Amino acid sequence: MRDSLRFLLGDRLIEIDRCDPTLTVLDWLRLDQRMTGTKEGCAEGDCGACTVVVGRLDRGRLRYEAINACIRFLPTLDGCQLLTVEHLKRADGSLHPVQQAMVECHGSQCGFCTPGFVMSLLALRLNEAEPSVGRIEDALAGNLCRCTGYEPIIAAGRRMDEIAPRETDRFLQEREAVAARLTALSDNETLALQGDGGWFYAPATVEALAELVAAHPQATLVAGATDVGLWVTKAMKRLDPLIYLGRIEALRAITDEGDHLRFGAMAGHIDVRTALAGLSPQLDELMRRFGGEQVRNAGTIGGNIANGSPIGDLPPALIALDATLVLARRSAAGIERRSIPLESFFIEYRKQDRRPGEFVEAVLVPKLADSVLFHASKVSKRFDEDISAVCGAFQLTFGSDGRISEARLAYGGMAGIPKRAAAAEAALVGQRWNETAVVAAIAALSQDFTPLDDMRASAHYRLTIAGNLLRRFLIETTQSDTQTRVAGLLAEAFHG
Ligand SMILES: Cc1cc2nc3c(=O)[nH]c(=O)nc-3n(C[C@H](O)[C@H](O)[C@H](O)COP(=O)(O)OP(=O)(O)OC[C@H]3O[C@@H](n4cnc5c(N)ncnc54)[C@H](O)[C@@H]3O)c2cc1C
Ligand code: FES
Ligand code: FES
Repeated sequence: MRDSLRFLLGDRLIEIDRCDPTLTVLDWLRLDQRMTGTKEGCAEGDCGACTVVVGRLDRGRLRYEAINACIRFLPTLDGCQLLTVEHLKRADGSLHPVQQAMVECHGSQCGFCTPGFVMSLLALRLNEAEPSVGRIEDALAGNLCRCTGYEPIIAAGRRMDEIAPRETDRFLQEREAVAARLTALSDNETLALQGDGGWFYAPATVEALAELVAAHPQATLVAGATDVGLWVTKAMKRLDPLIYLGRIEALRAITDEGDHLRFGAMAGHIDVRTALAGLSPQLDELMRRFGGEQVRNAGTIGGNIANGSPIGDLPPALIALDATLVLARRSAAGIERRSIPLESFFIEYRKQDRRPGEFVEAVLVPKLADSVLFHASKVSKRFDEDISAVCGAFQLTFGSDGRISEARLAYGGMAGIPKRAAAAEAALVGQRWNETAVVAAIAALSQDFTPLDDMRASAHYRLTIAGNLLRRFLIETTQSDTQTRVAGLLAEAFHG
């Protein structure tokens, strides 16, 4: 075991022997390091004022990610590089091209939101050459300004590569050297760090994780911390011990295994989006609307499932796709694994089929056959960075007679768990896919669900929307010239 945390702050090596397991990166920067350029707006991952860029090794290559410092625990940076807005300006006082573009395009706004916007644009620049307007919008969706406009900031995103070509960016020029320094820091030892608030463990292998979970059955597992972080900053919980999964490279892998894709539990939403987009463009849109870029950079498929939220976006889609969950734990013979249909993992509100010592290891997602129809939709108050009121995903299989032979209709936001609509499915099986069948399925939804009634949506609204999503599915699969997606309408309205 290693008992000190090591990471780079800019190019400075930081080593810490004692650290509270839930100390946030933001508090450490502002209160300990007195680096106050990174701001606190909401402290719940929503506003992006606290955006910093983290460089981490991904299969030997340095990868930059914008993340929310307010909900990220400092010890999770072990083996990474942390860049803040203070690292941009050169020693001679000259601005970084992202800052210069913000100045020239009049994108600089108040002192709360601007550092976060700058850091989101920095991550975009480091990752992509000449990003499209759509990509710039994506990258900024997790940065909220409550007062003024986004157009000058988007213009800065378009201008930054003109001001200075990417190849001349010192962060990219230093990339190999930083990667080498991080490689020198990486090891297979479990990090075991103690602080006043308790213990933080970060194993580097699945075997070490299984040992730790068995030894500490009450521990909180933490992946991207986009849910767990809020338990600390909003619910003021003390979490001791914490077991962090982010150092286990095997858990991040996404592999094509012929008829299905295998997602390690730590696969991040950015990569999950790319992989799922290959199955259906609607899954691409669903994932594009998952949180903002910072949440997609940190959040994981395993966290979205294990959290057991009735309004998580991935579970309905994965249930409709007939995904299988792989759970693992330590046994006398090594690691014991079991596979269950994802839908049976969710038992009741916040109660999942997880045995003592078990963790989510992987999710297996079958590829769609050419003959099936598939649909995924999310309805939320805001287009970006908002939790669903209702999320629906549907898969229809057809027999040789052209009638529906199997229906998988899965919803989020309609019950205490993500759940299939058994009565609506029964109403569809044996029918042709047309208005009559959809009307019958919509009527049956009221047998399937007594929806939640809360601040996001009333029960009546949810039930109506659930039916409307089925109707949208029919329209999209039978009337190709009808525009049904806000994304397409927005693109037309703003960019022609
Ligand atoms: C601003 C904001 C916007 C958001 N928008 C969305 C959205 O649009 N759609 C949506 O669905 N969610 C959204 N979320 C919620 C959250 O981002 C997701 O649920 C995310 O997938 C959680 O993943 P994580 O890796 O961050 O999990 P964590 O926060 O690290 O963990 C979540 C839970 O899963 C457990 N856990 C994690 N990994 C494992 C594992 N391998 N085995 C067992 N248990 C595990 C943890 O103990 C915890 O109980 C949003 C959150 C924020 C802050
Ligand atoms: S302070 Fe708002 S996202 Fe972190
Ligand atoms: S929040 Fe900074 S200008 Fe609106």
